[in-house]
Amino acid sequence: MFITFEGIDLSGKSTQAKLLYEYLQSKKVKSILLREPGGTAISEKIREIILAREHLEMTPLTEFMLFSASRSQLVSEVIKPHLKKGFVVICDRYFDSSTAYQSYGGGLDLKQVLKVNEIATGNLVPALTFLVDISPKDAFLRASNRGGQTDRMESKTLKFYNKVCNGFKEIANKNKKRFVVINGLLTVKQIQNRITEIVNKKLNI
Ligand SMILES: Nc1ncnc2c1ncn2[C@@H]1O[C@H](COP(=O)(O)OP(=O)(O)OP(=O)(O)O)[C@@H](O)[C@H]1O
Ligand SMILES: [Mg+2]
Repeated sequence: MFITFEGIDLSGKSTQAKLLYEYLQSKKVKSILLREPGGTAISEKIREIILAREHLEMTPLTEFMLFSASRSQLVSEVIKPHLKKGFVVICDRYFDSSTAYQSYGGGLDLKQVLKVNEIATGNLVPALTFLVDISPKDAFLRASNRGGQTDRMESKTLKFYNKVCNGFKEIANKNKKRFVVINGLLTVKQIQNRITEIVNKKLNI
């Protein structure tokens, strides 16, 4: 089964993806945890290009193409082979992030983005997507409370994050079958319990 975690920066995706992975490991369920962009040698190199601070001139389209190339390699090299072997594949961000950030946030044409998402992944759609939902205001608060990551979030405006956040909600509404929206302001434990309950049901464990 293919499970993805989505949400704006600092919403709590990585925290929950890791907790779910540890839970599945404790239950002896074969599983792997991946993060985007990354997860293969090629994808990690692409990640460096995308995240490098000196590349301020990168256009939204270039950025989107790089994310898609990284994702394409990850799908072929890691995700599909593991799904074939019966693993639960947990991915920290996937194509919904491109739709939310590059289209809803960055202004790229929605239809074109959805088409490229489809091409890059061979239309491999997650069985389950958790949207950890917090407002950009709360995310900024988290960023300033913890210090280190303030720069990254402040380099983009609150207006941009509002568009991304609303974009995620719209994507969830359009894909109700696979999306579960969780209030990211609940405690880590509360969110974890909700996720475990849903995954248990899906996996019959
Ligand atoms: N439910 C929660 N309540 C309060 N703080 C949380 C919660 N979940 C995570 N955090 C804290 O918020 C910060 C961001 O969490 P995390 O790294 O999991 O988010 P993320 O969505 O993966 O962020 P990024 O997009 O930057 O990778 C961390 O400091 C984490 O400890
Ligand atoms: Mg993270």
